[in-house]
Amino acid sequence: MAASGMHRAPLTHGRPQREASNERTEVGPHGPDAMELQLFQRFAALAYEKAGISIKPGKEALVSARVAKRLRALSLPDAETYLRHLEEDRSGEELMRFLDVISTHFTSFFREPDHFQLLEAELTHRVEAGQRRLRIWSAASSTGEEPYTIAMTALGVKGVEALDLKILATDIAADTLRQAAEGCYSAARMEPVPQALRARWFTRKRDPHEPTAEMWEAKPELKSRISFRRLNLAEPPFPMAGPFDVVFCRNVLIYFDQPTRQRLISAIEGLLRPGGLFCIGHTETLSGIRCGFKMQRPSVFRLPGEGVA
Ligand SMILES: C[S@@+](CC[C@H](N)C(=O)[O-])C[C@H]1O[C@@H](n2cnc3c(N)ncnc32)[C@H](O)[C@@H]1O
Repeated sequence: MAASGMHRAPLTHGRPQREASNERTEVGPHGPDAMELQLFQRFAALAYEKAGISIKPGKEALVSARVAKRLRALSLPDAETYLRHLEEDRSGEELMRFLDVISTHFTSFFREPDHFQLLEAELTHRVEAGQRRLRIWSAASSTGEEPYTIAMTALGVKGVEALDLKILATDIAADTLRQAAEGCYSAARMEPVPQALRARWFTRKRDPHEPTAEMWEAKPELKSRISFRRLNLAEPPFPMAGPFDVVFCRNVLIYFDQPTRQRLISAIEGLLRPGGLFCIGHTETLSGIRCGFKMQRPSVFRLPGEGVA
């Protein structure tokens, strides 16, 4: 990414919405009413056209619940009015908010922990072989737990602190990215982070919005290794030059249809160094995708070739 993707000014940080964006929307017998089919189809078409997100029939209640958040925020009476508002909004701001609420942002520190053990082994190998520049991409980084886990894992490898390590964290959702860049997490969200790592990489704070609650903020030396950028994975080619040593693209492929996945995987393949490592979510597969990746184990792939720069 070579320089271009990684050295721009940091995003301005808004008030973190912390728990709100990481919750799962409750739907079901007591959830919001399912939306009228035709309206649902128009929202689904918009999500597909703008972000490649494919929302299957049967998700009417989910879409209705998520759109309801924007209706409340904008004091609009119904989903039809909101759709018109979205279509008429030339700034694109509301479209970003729509994509933010419509996406599932669920994530956690050390999610699918075997990937971080592999990352540690991979970086140890590269450092021991003399590599000085390490580049890792967390595609679909959500609220930041994934790139911060990558950063803590990488910096735990002997010798890496002194090296040129940069992590690129991208997501389509601007508010979610702002929270990620803020790097503030509740005690509940911090649970998977071992005490020693917390003490080393986070500062304990009081939550300004809830004085009895404690928050943990990533220290500047952790944040400074990560660049947060907005990027739509459904619209390759991407502006980064690469090459990356490792790419995490986890728990986002499930939202895309096969042609979108194919374009994305081909783009990732083109940005990885030969020998580079690629992780997808445990429930995802590359089945039916034409690519040069060799599977190391389910959800972990490697490009053939010489692995060390
Ligand atoms: C379920 S989270 C996965 C977070 C993290 N990778 C993990 O595995 O824990 C999915 C993320 O994908 C993002 N996303 C959805 N569509 C996207 C797109 N077209 N381009 C980039 N990010 C997208 C969402 O905003 C959301 O933050």
